[in-house]
Amino acid sequence: METIQIKDKKFTVSIPEADILREVERVAGEINRDLADKNPLFLSVLNGSFMFTADLMKRITIPCEVSFVKLASYQGIASTGKVKEVIGVNEDLTGRTIVIVEDIIDTGLTMQRLLETLGTRRPKEIHIATLLVKPEKLKVNLDIEYVAMHIPNDFIVGYGLDYDGLGRNYKDIYTVINEE
Ligand code: IMP
Ligand code: MG
Repeated sequence: METIQIKDKKFTVSIPEADILREVERVAGEINRDLADKNPLFLSVLNGSFMFTADLMKRITIPCEVSFVKLASYQGIASTGKVKEVIGVNEDLTGRTIVIVEDIIDTGLTMQRLLETLGTRRPKEIHIATLLVKPEKLKVNLDIEYVAMHIPNDFIVGYGLDYDGLGRNYKDIYTVINEE
């Protein structure tokens, strides 16, 4: 079993690259079928989705545009704690078909925030494409149309996802090994 060590945690391969790419290919096919003639604007959410975005976009064959946004966290003044601001949306979204490209939907709060913010820019429609969903942790009701894979509620790294900034560069997805 191939294991890696990042800081205090050990991880083992749980989803090999070939399995990831097969599902990315399927999702791309669904988008090509559904959004042909809509000139969708893919909005990739950095940093985590950079690798998924690259592999997905190579398989999108319909006319489209791609751009990148980022969520900046800062401490809110109120007890709500962290507030996330969406930065980097330079395009006019009016009347556009948007596809948000995310790495993982966990509680769904990040996606909810993105939908709220982008919704104020008068797009025609917003679709969600995510590499991963942890269904056990979902707290909000989201219509997640394009999902490469559903995974259990374990911490993962690789293929863009990080532990404390590290591990994004691995081509496979690794799951943390819980040492009791
Ligand atoms: P949510 O707002 O709870 O849906 O959180 C989504 C964000 O949490 C993702 O964009 C990731 O940055 C991070 N995240 C959630 N689960 C994991 C994981 O297992 N590994 C790495 N990052 C994760
Ligand atoms: Mg993310």
